Amino acid sequence: MSVTLTVNGQRRSFDGDPRTPLIDLLRGPLHLTGAKDVCREGFCGACTVMIDGQPVPACLRPVGMLDGAEVTTVEGLSAPDALNPVQQAFIDHDVVQCGMCFPGMVVTLSDLLKANTTPSRAEVKAALTGNLCRCTGYERIIDAVLSLSTTEEPPQRPAHEHPV
Ligand code: FES
Ligand code: FES
Repeated sequence: MSVTLTVNGQRRSFDGDPRTPLIDLLRGPLHLTGAKDVCREGFCGACTVMIDGQPVPACLRPVGMLDGAEVTTVEGLSAPDALNPVQQAFIDHDVVQCGMCFPGMVVTLSDLLKANTTPSRAEVKAALTGNLCRCTGYERIIDAVLSLSTTEEPPQRPAHEHPV
């Protein structure tokens, strides 16, 4: 099956098994390795990309369903050699550990901030429902996102939590 889609602003063609998961097209022939291939079951969010304006796990989308679709990966969120604001905030707040979850989180959170420049702590938490992190702990990730808000809330970390 032949499929044509747009990935990070470039027209791309795929000719093969329509059941091929988008994550395999991205990380294979297209050499876009930002989206991570972790659970392949839609649970972890590490493979999240934007498809037609929505954050979606790329492991769950067969390429055969994407003819004419617009796909944006984490690589497409900033100019080459530049950092997306969420990436910079993660660095500034020292939240990067193994990093497997971050490309998906950057896509999800950039989408949130595009729609809502002043998210509440609860809204950031809700946005991250589909993105799992096994290393850093979510509070510092949320603090990083809130630092980008124009009406930042003060951190509300539970008293018992120790920074990792
Ligand atoms: S690899 Fe797609 S959700 Fe985990
Ligand atoms: S930094 Fe390791 S899973 Fe999030």
